[in-house]
Amino acid sequence: MSIEVVPTNAGLGAQIKRVDLAKPMDDELFAEIEATLDEHGVIVLRDQEITPEQQVAFSARFGEVAVNHNAKDFGIDGSPEIYLISNITKEGRLIGTPRAGSEWHTDMSYAKVPARATMLHAIEVPELDGLSLGDTEFANTAAAWDALPPALQEKLAGLTGTFDFRGRKRGRPISEETIAQYPPVEHPIVRTHPRTGRKGLYVMRNDCTGIVGMNVEEAQLLIDVLAEHIIRPEFVYRHRWCVGDVVVWDNCTAQHKAMIDYDLPQRRLMWRTTVKGSVPF
Ligand code: OGA
Ligand code: MN
Repeated sequence: MSIEVVPTNAGLGAQIKRVDLAKPMDDELFAEIEATLDEHGVIVLRDQEITPEQQVAFSARFGEVAVNHNAKDFGIDGSPEIYLISNITKEGRLIGTPRAGSEWHTDMSYAKVPARATMLHAIEVPELDGLSLGDTEFANTAAAWDALPPALQEKLAGLTGTFDFRGRKRGRPISEETIAQYPPVEHPIVRTHPRTGRKGLYVMRNDCTGIVGMNVEEAQLLIDVLAEHIIRPEFVYRHRWCVGDVVVWDNCTAQHKAMIDYDLPQRRLMWRTTVKGSVPF
């Protein structure tokens, strides 16, 4: 039996039906899932009941699983690859990062080798009298590129951005060691997808701090214009979470942003895994 793919009808993303991640998965089935991620940028698998080990094993099908620098404080015993995104406290201490990704971004663009894909598995979803909160928005960077006028595409094609770990406000102090691990790097602001060859915009506020060969004002203006273009409503899908959702996004094709429209006692808990990628070109 093969999978059923239901596109979201929004700017990107598709739901994959008839997959149980708790069952063994042969290469053929995984290839269909991977092809769906390549095509749609975001995939959603509902009603999954899996252990941390099963999530890590599924993540590893996409590539080497990274251990996040936050996982030593916000991890799960026995599964260092799982990093908790959560606003829950236990004995007065947060168990995870509470406001991860509240501005538009793509994961680890500040690294020489950014993340290929990120997976979130919803364990607890905040709600108000049945209305779920804490949605995640996604934007299609490839569709945003396609929609640019040819003259602007030509101007952007050879440009290189500077990406800096320190460009983004973070929820808590970052250790000197982590900062030293991520010196500023350069990436093309028009990326070619390593698997599909499709071009997409790779630029966003905060993480992208400048453009090589442009003065600060000129660069910031271009970054702002492109960042706003990428999140035009026609390129966006807003995911409303249900407990048991497993969502995987491609960090080349998609940017994302967390909606912070809830607070304790409304609880949110996600298990996050990250798959290593390749040097952007
Ligand atoms: C992330 C992230 C968004 C969310 O985990 O990288 O940006 O909605 N999360 O939790
Ligand atoms: Mn993120």
